[in-house]
Amino acid sequence: MSHRQVHKRSGWIAFGVLGVLATAALVQAACSGGPALERAAGAARPIATAHAADREDDARDVAEAAMARLADGRKVFRFDTFGDEAFWGDTLKLHEAIEGEAHGGVGPGLSPKAALAAGLKVDVDALPGDVRQALAAGKVDLDDPGVTLALLKLNAVVGITGFPDGSGGLRSVGIQCALCHSRVDDSFAPGIGHRLDGWSNQDLNVGAIVSLAPNLDPVAKLLGVSVDTLRQVLATWGPGKFDAEVFLDGKALRPDGKSAATLIPPAFGLAGVNLHTWTGWGSVTHWNAFVANLEMHGQGTFFDPRLDDASKFPIAAANGFGHVRSDPDLVTSKLPALHLYQLAIDAPRPPKGSFDAAAAQRGGKLFAGAAKCATCHVPPIFTEPGWNLHTGQEIGIDDFQASRSPDGRYRTTPLRGLWTHGKRGYYHDGRFATLRDVVNHYDATFHLGLSDADKDDLEQYLQSL
Ligand code: HEC
Ligand code: HEC
Repeated sequence: MSHRQVHKRSGWIAFGVLGVLATAALVQAACSGGPALERAAGAARPIATAHAADREDDARDVAEAAMARLADGRKVFRFDTFGDEAFWGDTLKLHEAIEGEAHGGVGPGLSPKAALAAGLKVDVDALPGDVRQALAAGKVDLDDPGVTLALLKLNAVVGITGFPDGSGGLRSVGIQCALCHSRVDDSFAPGIGHRLDGWSNQDLNVGAIVSLAPNLDPVAKLLGVSVDTLRQVLATWGPGKFDAEVFLDGKALRPDGKSAATLIPPAFGLAGVNLHTWTGWGSVTHWNAFVANLEMHGQGTFFDPRLDDASKFPIAAANGFGHVRSDPDLVTSKLPALHLYQLAIDAPRPPKGSFDAAAAQRGGKLFAGAAKCATCHVPPIFTEPGWNLHTGQEIGIDDFQASRSPDGRYRTTPLRGLWTHGKRGYYHDGRFATLRDVVNHYDATFHLGLSDADKDDLEQYLQSL
């Protein structure tokens, strides 16, 4: 081993220690908001001195650069539209429906009440004190779309950026990752609170929001259907769901006639997990590039020749979705920071008292033993280290959704933070309403012979992750 290699390796060992501390600092930062992340960059310094004195400067450089990049990544996750306002605003005219006729748009406009009902969230930290007071005193008219415009101007609507036209209305509107993968803690009021990055928005009715757009012709044309049919399809999704694959294969319904949409998954607890999405499309950064270009319609570069398979992905193949090049590219330069940020968002711990600790401990033994869960959900990442995919048959379900992906398989879901996202059910399409239903499914599929008490314990264990 050359001197240079040795030098590099000790640098990495130091970073391993720092990484753990940096992540802990970040979790705190994610809870407490803004400046904590910047403070954390400074806080990493003394540890570098204590643990890696000989490589102090190198380690400090790495830690400082990583913390700066994390802060950038959070900004991208929360606020970057990747230029997708050219699609949502300029083309679909979504901003006109938000404004309403009274503010230069069309229709009644989107009142704050309607926005909250569609699952949109408001970031209380973006509201000035007087606005908070007025809200708390019930002095804000939540039926007035003008208030929605004011909230957009304050950058307070999570995941949506309004571009002002200079005369009180909007010139355009764009969307961000945070739209689907953030929630607020409802500390101020339902739907209004501090941001929770990475938590799936279980209330967000993406279909209803897209349906508001006055010009859906381009989307209907892409799918080869009428605008009426498109609106019907969007209405089948419901809260907390989205169908990323329909824009590739045009399959809006499952064989049983129900919506083909999947649940919006959390974007936390993903470090150490190899393949991502319900069906294992690729790494976090593969999917980020995919979503930013193909779903959000940002302007970037995307390469995935698997989408040239016209039998599996007729729409993607016909439209060259595996070979996207935009000039300028507003996505690619942001991928490294975005990647790092997502890997750093840990799964939140369940609140104290939300589960029975003794039962959870017994459940953990079953999970690792007689119930065979840990053969696939390997703790502490709760998916297989390695190629973490299975056929539908292996887990006792149909393979419709799996067959809409390159490998034809389902990804073993990482289970930490399960307690945050049961509202729309479990498994990719929410087919199991409760964790008990999931456990019953495995009991029947794998002939586990679990007693009711075993099932209670397993359930408590799952709630404790
Ligand atoms: C319109 C809602 C929506 C938006 C916006 C969105 N996502 Fe997603 N995201 C989803 C859905 C739905 C899935 C599941 C897709 C599937 O399995 O087919 C998903 C999957 C993911 C996953 C995989 C999670 C896992 O468990 O492996 C990650 C990571 C992710 N998104 C990150 C992002 C990032 C970063 C952005 C912004 C660039 C983004 N998403 C924008 C809805 C959205
Ligand atoms: C053969 C591998 C395998 C085994 C064994 C297995 N799972 Fe799973 N598990 C999966 C896969 C794959 C999925 C994703 C299914 C889907 O999304 O449709 C999953 C999904 C889940 C989910 C849903 C997560 C979510 O976010 O919706 C839970 C909960 C779960 N498993 C718990 C268990 C428990 C408890 C056991 C043991 C009784 C178990 N699993 C055994 C592979 C496995």
